[in-house]
Amino acid sequence: MIFMSREYDLKPAPSGEQSSSQALGDSLINRRQFLSYGFNTATGVLAASLGVLGFASLLLPPSGSTGGDLAAKYWAKGREDEAWYGAMHEQVMKKSDFVAEAAKSSTGSSGAAGVWNGVPIVVTYVDHSKNAGSPVSNGKARFQFMEGYDGTGKYVGHFEDLSDADPRLLPSDDLVMVFARCTHLCCIPGWQLVTNRYTVDTWIPGGGDAGGTKLFCICHSSRFDPTALEMNANTNRSNGAKFKYAGIRRSGGPAPVGLPIIPIAMNGDIIEGLPDYVDWYTYCD
Ligand code: FES
Repeated sequence: MIFMSREYDLKPAPSGEQSSSQALGDSLINRRQFLSYGFNTATGVLAASLGVLGFASLLLPPSGSTGGDLAAKYWAKGREDEAWYGAMHEQVMKKSDFVAEAAKSSTGSSGAAGVWNGVPIVVTYVDHSKNAGSPVSNGKARFQFMEGYDGTGKYVGHFEDLSDADPRLLPSDDLVMVFARCTHLCCIPGWQLVTNRYTVDTWIPGGGDAGGTKLFCICHSSRFDPTALEMNANTNRSNGAKFKYAGIRRSGGPAPVGLPIIPIAMNGDIIEGLPDYVDWYTYCD
């Protein structure tokens, strides 16, 4: 089956501050940009054995491509090959896969590592549509739309300030995709790839560190709650430009802030990401 590629115009980040994407002058991430955005610090042994560019080359879009298909694809090499999507390496992500996996979960959620447009991602599914109307005490996960604070504790704004301006930032079909580079030192957090109290199949509201179902970064134990959606702030490491973004909350560990969202556009059952906010993914340049 051939999936049609889509192209979208970039627009300034909602903060109104200068968008680094304008400097990129392109609506899609190409090979050169991938080398900037991609796996500069990749996961575990695979990255160590291949080196940064060796690992990156596995994920590059075809030479000469303008970005191509924007479908998210499973990444299941390394720790991920024992995950529920281990047999689907480089296949396109489908919502039905996540729904089937979430049906096995006591929290009604599921997650997977992947690659989108040459960068690492984690997609999580939360049965928000069903669970949001039930008591939180039942431990069924649902999305929470929250206030956000920067790395110094200063109030930044509310998630809905951003989603009101661009509703595509809201979960799409109960799915959220995030750019999976840790805001501490740029390792790649995963979804239930290790077993500890932050990754067990339990959910507690509030966006805090209690409960499991966190994205967990194995480098220095940072945790992120994919159900807690907030506004946050970070800095482009290359040019120092500051930006506000919609993201998932950092719940614990040395990471100062949460991970930015990549808006989703469903293409039937296929999960695709929109490249409108590439300036949010520049803190690891
Ligand atoms: S790089 Fe993720 S916790 Fe340090």
